[in-house]
Amino acid sequence: MSIVYLNGEFIPKGEASISVDDRGFLLSDGVYEVTPFYDGVAFRLDHHLARLDRSLRELGILFGTEGLAEVHHHLVAENGLENEIRSLVYLQITRGVAPRTHYFPPEPVPATVYAYAKPWERPPEDVWSQGFTAITVPDERWLRVDIKTISLLANALAFQAARDAGADDALLVRGEVAIEGAHQNFFAVFDGMLVTHPESNLILPGITRDAVLGLAGDCGIPVEQRPIRVEELADADELFFTGTTGEVRPCVQVDGESIGTGRPGDVTVALSQAFLNLVQKTTKEGMAALG
Ligand code: PDD
Repeated sequence: MSIVYLNGEFIPKGEASISVDDRGFLLSDGVYEVTPFYDGVAFRLDHHLARLDRSLRELGILFGTEGLAEVHHHLVAENGLENEIRSLVYLQITRGVAPRTHYFPPEPVPATVYAYAKPWERPPEDVWSQGFTAITVPDERWLRVDIKTISLLANALAFQAARDAGADDALLVRGEVAIEGAHQNFFAVFDGMLVTHPESNLILPGITRDAVLGLAGDCGIPVEQRPIRVEELADADELFFTGTTGEVRPCVQVDGESIGTGRPGDVTVALSQAFLNLVQKTTKEGMAALG
């Protein structure tokens, strides 16, 4: 059985229990992170912990993130994932256990901290190289999706709508604008220019997105951060999503319409390869640091 972390202890998953009065359960009052590990080495854990810290502060949840890096490493080791090509740590922090009220507990209670680790797989090369399909779905999330809250109902409904339609991904649309995926950021390529929505309250500032923007700079690919209108999508040469478990994920069809050549384009393939190279470099450096 897997070993999970709950409120300071590493315990078998079957022994982990959380109060029915937990504000995460009753009110979605909490935040989370998903951090990827490659061969047991974290990719940009410091970025994930910084984003977590910001999410906590934005919601006024009193919890210090120091000590959480060690929890991540310990979970990966305890679950025998050091040699797993890809694994991840999911970590969630809620405001804690208190009688249900719409206001915060007047006397602060200890936050509930839960984490687990598990392996995951990239799609096989023959599947990836065909590309993935998406449908547009209205973005019905709240207006602070820059905070990584556990309140993911609108994301889940959108992703289910995509699955029901036989598509691989959901592309969330607010007004005229293609914002991001249900659990990934979104990029388009127009005449060699890489375009993505700027950081704002309307997107999650993705760690993969940030890495890919850096790699585009390194590869000499010009970048523009601006809203992408849905009506522009038909003219895009390439589209792709980015995220922890999607890495760089080509999108070759939206609402049944083929994009570009209908196959992952050159910029997508180059950035995907650059991302995998960066991961490999980070993993090697991480291993060297461990000795
Ligand atoms: N999702 N946008 C949304 C709405 C997300 O939920 C995520 C991550 C991203 C990509 O962020 P990053 O590159 O830091 O993973 C963008 C996580 C992985 C999830 O919910 O499982």
